[in-house]
Amino acid sequence: MFFVVKLGLIVGFWQYLCAQTALGYGIPRKDLDSPGTLAISNATFTSKWIEGTDLVQIIEMIIENTDSTNWLTTSDKLNVTVVSDSVNLVQPGTLLRLRPGDRAIVQVGVKNKSNVSPGTTCSATVVANWGSASGNLRNTTATVTGPCGIGNYVSTDGSLEFHSSPDWFNDAKYGIFFHWGLYSAPAYGYIQPNESYAEWYWKRQHDPTYETHTYQYHLETYGESFNYDDFVSNFTASKFDPRSWLELIDAAGAQYFVPVTKHHDGFALFNFSASVSKRSSVHYGPKRDFIKELLSTAKTDYPHLRRGTYFSLPEWYNPLYTKYAQGEFLGGPPTNPYTGETIEYTGFVNVSDFVTDIQLPQMEALAYDYETEIMWCDIGGANNSTILMSAWLNWARGQGRQVAFNNRCGLKGDYDTPEYQTNANTVARKWESTRGMDPFSFGYNYMTPDDQYLTGYEIVQAVVDIVSKNGNFLLDVGPRNDGSIADIMVANLRDAGTWIKAHAESIYSTRYWLTTAGTGNLRYTTTAEAFYIHVLSQPNATVTISDPIPYLAGDSVTVVGGSLAGKAVPMTENSDGTYTLTVGSDVAAADKYVWTFRIVY
Ligand SMILES: *[C@@H]1O[C@H](CO)[C@@H](O)[C@H](O)[C@H]1NC(C)=O
Ligand SMILES: *[C@@H]1O[C@H](CO)[C@@H](O)[C@H](O)[C@H]1NC(C)=O
Ligand SMILES: *[C@@H]1O[C@H](CO)[C@@H](O)[C@H](O)[C@H]1NC(C)=O
Ligand SMILES: *[C@@H]1O[C@H](CO)[C@@H](O)[C@H](O)[C@H]1NC(C)=O
Ligand SMILES: *[C@@H]1O[C@H](CO)[C@@H](O)[C@H](O)[C@H]1NC(C)=O
Ligand SMILES: *[C@@H]1O[C@H](CO)[C@@H](O)[C@H](O)[C@H]1NC(C)=O
Ligand SMILES: *[C@@H]1O[C@H](CO)[C@@H](O)[C@H](O)[C@H]1NC(C)=O
Ligand SMILES: *[C@@H]1O[C@H](CO)[C@@H](O)[C@H](O)[C@H]1NC(C)=O
Ligand SMILES: *[C@@H]1O[C@H](CO)[C@@H](O)[C@H](O)[C@H]1NC(C)=O
Ligand SMILES: *[C@@H]1O[C@H](CO)[C@@H](O)[C@H](O)[C@H]1NC(C)=O
Ligand SMILES: *[C@@H]1O[C@H](CO)[C@@H](O)[C@H](O)[C@H]1NC(C)=O
Repeated sequence: MFFVVKLGLIVGFWQYLCAQTALGYGIPRKDLDSPGTLAISNATFTSKWIEGTDLVQIIEMIIENTDSTNWLTTSDKLNVTVVSDSVNLVQPGTLLRLRPGDRAIVQVGVKNKSNVSPGTTCSATVVANWGSASGNLRNTTATVTGPCGIGNYVSTDGSLEFHSSPDWFNDAKYGIFFHWGLYSAPAYGYIQPNESYAEWYWKRQHDPTYETHTYQYHLETYGESFNYDDFVSNFTASKFDPRSWLELIDAAGAQYFVPVTKHHDGFALFNFSASVSKRSSVHYGPKRDFIKELLSTAKTDYPHLRRGTYFSLPEWYNPLYTKYAQGEFLGGPPTNPYTGETIEYTGFVNVSDFVTDIQLPQMEALAYDYETEIMWCDIGGANNSTILMSAWLNWARGQGRQVAFNNRCGLKGDYDTPEYQTNANTVARKWESTRGMDPFSFGYNYMTPDDQYLTGYEIVQAVVDIVSKNGNFLLDVGPRNDGSIADIMVANLRDAGTWIKAHAESIYSTRYWLTTAGTGNLRYTTTAEAFYIHVLSQPNATVTISDPIPYLAGDSVTVVGGSLAGKAVPMTENSDGTYTLTVGSDVAAADKYVWTFRIVY
């Protein structure tokens, strides 16, 4: 009896000690207690469904650990469910770790109930339950209102603004862009010490003062009577092989690709009704449908690569664009820049309206005949995009396909597209940074010295930096007029691809960390099960991390990629709240470009 009482006192003393340490005295025992409070915000019915399901709609929300001391851990068994008269829960959500003050995006899958027509506005309560660790079950809830089920789009801006980029696009991270067309024949846009878009050759040719001096160059090289459309004869595509392009995309570690199907010069590389226009490679020059060759080969031989299409909404010199003139897009017919005489716009068909009779049917061809997965528009301006997108999204949904369109179609679009720029910090709205491997051109520029192209190192640095900030990277290659790709671009893409593939788990299908993209030379990416630390320069013997990363004593921290992949590296938390990763010279020497470490929850 006496003994039992004494034991009770001892147990009580240990409980007292643990309570004290949890409050911050002595060694922290963060894993012992469940958070007292979590908060749900930004709960939304999204336009997305879980890929491969029968339209199981994704509700997305942010969960924040509002407890100032206790961590959410795997032992809390957080389970997010939905209670609603309008939808049924299909896939509950979960979250394995959240330190005090941290936030994460959580998804739940629901299905409209049988009496609820998809797209009807309705409400649901999302409920997060946790606390199995302490045996003290807790919950928090939030109300979400919006379209229940994946409904029809109608041709209004408002309806289409509901659409967001599908998760396959958010997962893909890295794509290859191809600017290839008549401008690849002169392949010129150079003046020391800088350059300008070689694909703008025809436009620059009309501006004698423009810094690239294209006007003078053309006169000296081809003579005044050689019109831009005469480059059709040089656009031989004699070495074009869709398999070699696709093999390169794959080796580069990219997950999608976007060829230019028609640039501002209006010369298309795909097919459409001859009553719309004959200005294409199907009617002139090589008489081939390159977009079909590329997309259909990809569909059969590289089905894991997503297939996009770039399309310029305006045409510089189409006689019918004059009515919609804006900015540098004034319409035609074209003139000879040296004599001023009006010249033929090759393949022109005199329909009644540029937008309804050329632009819309061409985009419809890309949407329906070519089954594009990304409508990568350029320039915007006069458009019928609400008509196109609403019908296309509804049609694609009928096939169980989720598609995307950028912000240059005349609509808000699924994502923003900074060009030859990136974002300094995380941007929560999805974005995709684009640039050429060339320092200032998308189209091939024969004057660019090899050492000016993006290197494997620079590509890897860009991918990691952009992905940590919620971006995708669409990197452009400018093939030559014969369809071949310069060795330097091939070599550098393959070099980057070797790194990217070896570090795939820390890049593809990750999400940005809501707290910070990373301080100094550190960048972070996250998955449901792990947290990735990327060091953008070769580490010293130790790496000090001052950001509040979700590391708990006892976690396994290992090397990702390089020759010591999987090796455990010691991590310690310092008394000032920073962390020290003891890398060692062997690990520092075992990789290149970016050094990556994984914390498993
Ligand atoms: C959450 O919602 C707020 C207010 O609408 C918005 O500013 C913020 O960007 C959203 N956060 C994320 C991560 O989407
Ligand atoms: C989460 O909740 C759902 C619905 O109540 C239940 O079916 C599921 O088993 C729960 N999962 C866990 C891990 O508790
Ligand atoms: C959801 O909506 C569709 C289309 O109206 C309907 O066929 C289906 O029965 C609804 N509910 C479920 C659970 O599928
Ligand atoms: C939330 O917790 C309270 C208090 O423990 C409990 O009464 C309630 O039923 C719980 N609600 C849900 C939806 O689990
Ligand atoms: C080209 O170089 C000049 C002189 O350095 C500079 O003023 C100009 O902004 C540069 N143009 C571009 C497009 O980079
Ligand atoms: C294009 O073809 C013309 C003759 O058709 C020729 O004079 C010119 O050199 C060619 N240019 C290129 C870049 O191949
Ligand atoms: C191009 O498309 C039209 C119909 O729009 C079709 O009649 C023609 O055969 C196609 N041409 C090629 C080369 O595919
Ligand atoms: C197109 O046809 C209209 C009506 O026949 C005519 O007025 C116009 O000049 C034509 N435009 C061109 C560029 O041929
Ligand atoms: C797209 O077209 C609509 C009219 O159909 C117009 O209101 C909108 O301004 C256009 N977008 C751009 C970027 O010009
Ligand atoms: C787009 O389509 C509508 C309906 O067909 C039409 O009225 C409109 O003029 C078209 N063009 C533009 C530029 O909006
Ligand atoms: C290595 O140490 C130097 C000197 O303290 C510092 O400038 C550099 O940023 C460190 N490198 C890394 C990757 O932390």
